[in-house]
Amino acid sequence: MLVLRTTRSCPVSLTFLFVLALALAACDSGGSGDEADDGPYPALRRQSSFPVGVAITTDHLGEPSYQQVIKRVFNSLSGEYEMKPATIWRGIGQYNWGPADLITAFAFRNDMRVHGHTLVWHSSTPAFIQNFRGTDEAFDAAVRQYITDVVTRYRLTVDAWDVVNEAFDDGNGQFRNTVFRQRMGPDYVAKCFQYAREADPNVLLFYNDYGTIWNRRKADAMFAMIDDFQARGIPIDGVGLQMHISHNWPAMADIQRVVDGIVERGLMVHISELDIKINPDNAITAPTPERLESQKQRMMYIVEMYRRIPARLQYGITLWGLSDKDSWLIDFEGRPDWPLLFDANLEPKPAYFGFLESLD
Ligand code: G3I
Repeated sequence: MLVLRTTRSCPVSLTFLFVLALALAACDSGGSGDEADDGPYPALRRQSSFPVGVAITTDHLGEPSYQQVIKRVFNSLSGEYEMKPATIWRGIGQYNWGPADLITAFAFRNDMRVHGHTLVWHSSTPAFIQNFRGTDEAFDAAVRQYITDVVTRYRLTVDAWDVVNEAFDDGNGQFRNTVFRQRMGPDYVAKCFQYAREADPNVLLFYNDYGTIWNRRKADAMFAMIDDFQARGIPIDGVGLQMHISHNWPAMADIQRVVDGIVERGLMVHISELDIKINPDNAITAPTPERLESQKQRMMYIVEMYRRIPARLQYGITLWGLSDKDSWLIDFEGRPDWPLLFDANLEPKPAYFGFLESLD
């Protein structure tokens, strides 16, 4: 059954509905998460009081084995790249909606939430924007139009957007000197949040980054930005902590400190890209029982910490991938690793059961 989120009064174009119907037809064999959970192991979405998400690609949505696990276990989707500017933004006012539409259609079909990742990211910026030839005012107008058009299209199907991703420099805690910073000025992040809010009064607006746990300077800069936003009435609803971590690093106290800083500001916490490396030292060529147990314990700490957040601020925990063999980390780190909840055969690992145990 197709359920459109009509809680938001918004004009739903017939074109959009037609595209959605087509995308549905191209999608899965149907069946939502509401069916009796008769699977071989308990589903996280049915045990958890907060949304549990997974980052997927449309390639994976085309594989029945992935579909079955994704829709039974999770109730939130993030696109690994399909909802990013480099995929959607083809030119001024020109868009490639196809991949993102497939994700939102699959989510609707299976009663899942969609987390929009991301509207502005220097690492996913199309060349015509990166090398923009017009004036700064024209650049600003182009970004505003992009944010407006994307947020408007997905007003019925996307719950929240990472409005800006990874804006802070790792070293000096300042904004990275990106084309957005250069062309729109030092207040560009605030502008993007305002543009998104103008496009949809109800969508949740997140700032998303990595390293704010182990990089105090980056965390301090992020919190200073948030405090400034809140003082100026710039809309922001939550913070995404990517959490690309290891089984033995960073210290849980460091994670707790940043989570506390977000909660103190009354903002929602999204653990937005969780993966837990078990081979950070490149010491193993296959998962060992010890490292898998350590990964399970780390997962349990994280879930137990997350459940201590006030429920209204628990936006959810999203794993950055389904199966170990698909993790971005393998190419990025150039070494084997097994950072996720499911193995190469889509079988749940000890960390999956640790997640479940921590929900009791
Ligand atoms: O497989 C598709 C192919 O079918 C398609 O035609 C083609 C179109 O460009 O893309 C192919 O997919 C690639 C995708 O990875 C496969 O998962 C994309 O080219 C490639 O750009 C994409 O890289 C993603 C990367 O961000 C850049 O967008 C990674 O999947 C994704 O894991 C990674 O995620 C980032 C977060 O967004 C931000 N935080 C860090 C994280 C890791 O870098």
